[in-house]
Amino acid sequence: MPLLVLAIFLALGGMPLVAADQAGSGQAGSASGFVGGEACRTCHADVWATFYRNPHYKSIASGKEPPEKTGCEGCHGPGAAHVQARGGASTIPNAFSRMPPQKILDTCLGCHADTLSRSNIRRSRHTEEDVVCTNCHSIHKPATPKLLLAMKQTELCYSCHTAERAQFSMPFKHRVNEGFMQCTDCHNPHGAPSPTWSMAARPAMTEQAEGNEETCLRCHIDKRGPFTFEHAAVRVDGCETCHMPHGSTNPRMLKRPVIFTVCLECHNNQGSFGPNLTGVPRPNSTHNLANPRFQNCTGCHVRIHGSNSDPFFFR
Ligand code: HEC
Ligand code: HEC
Ligand code: HEC
Ligand code: HEC
Ligand code: HEC
Ligand code: HEC
Ligand code: HEC
Ligand code: HEC
Ligand code: HEC
Ligand code: HEC
Repeated sequence: MPLLVLAIFLALGGMPLVAADQAGSGQAGSASGFVGGEACRTCHADVWATFYRNPHYKSIASGKEPPEKTGCEGCHGPGAAHVQARGGASTIPNAFSRMPPQKILDTCLGCHADTLSRSNIRRSRHTEEDVVCTNCHSIHKPATPKLLLAMKQTELCYSCHTAERAQFSMPFKHRVNEGFMQCTDCHNPHGAPSPTWSMAARPAMTEQAEGNEETCLRCHIDKRGPFTFEHAAVRVDGCETCHMPHGSTNPRMLKRPVIFTVCLECHNNQGSFGPNLTGVPRPNSTHNLANPRFQNCTGCHVRIHGSNSDPFFFR
């Protein structure tokens, strides 16, 4: 506070800070335009009434942040003109209801960039589609007070992703609808960290587990390996080559109703010779695929995700 303003402030003996700063703004060039959150209280009592529970109240409580990072004005911008005009949507710098998505994003990232830029939020599919912070978070009327979500998470995601609701209602599924899991166990709605050389094809904003592994391995640790004998389909192509990650009408959430048709997508003649040689071996001639016994591939190749003792995954 400039000395002159301070002098006026003291002279007026405890006059509220608002007025003092307004006095300041009358003087050439000295105005920052910040009045402090208390000034908002009289007119926005409803917002104030619950704000002490908001994680953003911390900046007011601590009193240690600079004005542009404190309380209401940390998001809405300096309020002097707005207070002077006794309200109005055009006088407050950041009236979110009138802001384009990109500006909302920039305002929130003004403080949250360090944690969220890790997930490449500016390049996420949501940002590309203009789905930004306030589509999912509600600062003043949150359904979940801690994370300030506009709705409970699963409902929030389903409000736009209706097809996924149907997938999680299939006979074989991850139990998201039952409340045992959430979308964010696998996805990061803020975006995924950039793929590294080892995981160029990581899809759909899926989170990574330890060491850049697929998100599935956070829970299915028995599939992690490394195995002495890896099945390249698991290690290289990834779990979703054979499984539907959300849900499926097929047991084990497989992509196809019968197991051997999953296998024959790769283990067919295509790979063994000819111009499309992929090196994927075909089951040798002992496999009589007309015989139901041989159709049950994982009846013999039981360690289909990798084995430490057998190159053909028998045990
Ligand atoms: C973390 C950022 C942030 C902080 C801090 C914040 N607001 Fe808001 N405010 C918003 C957003 C975003 C909206 C748009 C509506 C929404 O998403 O909840 C909003 C909307 C409003 C509205 C419009 C009416 C309404 O309820 O939607 C008023 C009034 C308001 N804020 C006043 C305040 C006051 C007063 C404070 C301090 C006590 C404050 N805001 C602190 C972000 C913030
Ligand atoms: C003298 C009363 C008064 C004070 C003090 C006041 N406001 Fe307001 N504010 C209003 C009125 C009235 C409106 C409604 C304008 C409208 O809807 O056209 C409003 C609207 C708003 C909006 C909503 C804009 C929108 O439509 O999205 C925000 C945000 C806001 N005020 C923030 C603040 C903040 C932050 C402070 C404290 C720095 C503050 N107000 C202090 C009267 C006040
Ligand atoms: C002035 C800086 C600032 C701005 C701007 C800001 N935030 Fe925050 N935000 C914080 C701080 C500080 C916390 C508290 C972190 C803590 O609890 O340690 C917080 C907490 C949160 C939380 C809760 C996080 C948790 O772990 O519980 C969410 C969600 C959030 N902010 C969303 C937003 C959104 C959405 C916007 C834009 C409308 C926004 N913030 C703008 C500083 C800011
Ligand atoms: C598509 C919906 C969506 C969008 C868009 C979104 N969030 Fe979130 N955000 C969530 C969900 C869901 C969580 C809770 C994650 C959890 O439960 O683990 C969350 C958690 C958070 C947290 C706390 C945990 C953390 O990751 O640090 C902060 C802070 C946060 N969001 C801020 C923001 C900001 C700032 C923006 C805009 C730049 C934003 N969010 C955009 C859905 C969203
Ligand atoms: C306001 C609407 C909206 C909300 C809420 C929303 N999304 Fe989205 N989401 C979209 C749009 C639009 C796209 C891009 C088009 C598409 O793929 O459907 C998208 C894309 C995605 C994608 C695909 C990304 C890719 O790279 O293909 C995932 C995963 C996703 N959202 C997860 C979530 C999760 C998890 C939540 C809840 C935390 C959520 N979304 C909430 C609108 C939303
Ligand atoms: C068990 C982990 C897991 C859970 C839980 C999960 N997802 Fe996914 N989701 C994935 C994976 C993996 C993909 C990529 C699939 C692929 O590329 O074949 C994906 C893809 C998506 C896509 C892109 C689909 C497309 O056709 O491009 C959307 C949207 C999506 N998920 C939304 C959600 C929503 C909403 C929820 C919560 C209701 C959710 N997911 C829960 C793992 C999961
Ligand atoms: C948050 C933990 C978690 C994550 C992450 C996860 N799963 Fe699961 N998964 C489970 C649990 C728990 C079950 C078992 C039972 C249930 O909920 O019905 C399960 C069941 C399965 C099943 C069916 C098993 C059976 O016996 O029928 C398959 C297949 C599966 N998961 C694959 C995946 C794939 C692929 C991914 C990654 C896209 C993944 N899971 C990510 C927890 C997880
Ligand atoms: C080559 C195709 C293929 C790939 C890739 C694959 N799976 Fe499987 N998975 C299967 C088959 C086939 C079964 C059913 C085995 C049976 O019922 O005999 C299965 C069964 C499962 C089961 C249930 C039974 C068990 O062994 O626990 C889980 C869980 C599972 N897979 C998780 C995963 C995860 C996680 C990944 C990625 C790390 C993955 N799968 C990659 C083909 C695959
Ligand atoms: C996405 C393609 C793909 C799918 C689907 C797939 N595999 Fe494989 N499989 C491979 C590749 C690639 C190799 C490694 C070949 C190599 O190392 O030369 C392999 C290796 C094998 C081997 C070891 C062969 C050897 O000579 O080392 C067996 C056994 C096998 N797969 C069985 C199966 C069964 C059973 C299924 C169905 C449950 C299946 N695979 C599904 C691609 C696939
Ligand atoms: C009755 C047990 C049994 C069943 C069922 C079975 N296999 Fe095999 N598979 C074997 C044996 C034994 C070998 C290795 C020894 C050999 O060379 O005959 C083998 C080897 C393989 C190889 C490696 C071939 C090579 O030359 O490297 C592939 C690939 C394979 N099987 C795929 C499959 C597929 C796909 C199915 C389902 C259509 C299947 N197997 C069903 C017993 C079985």
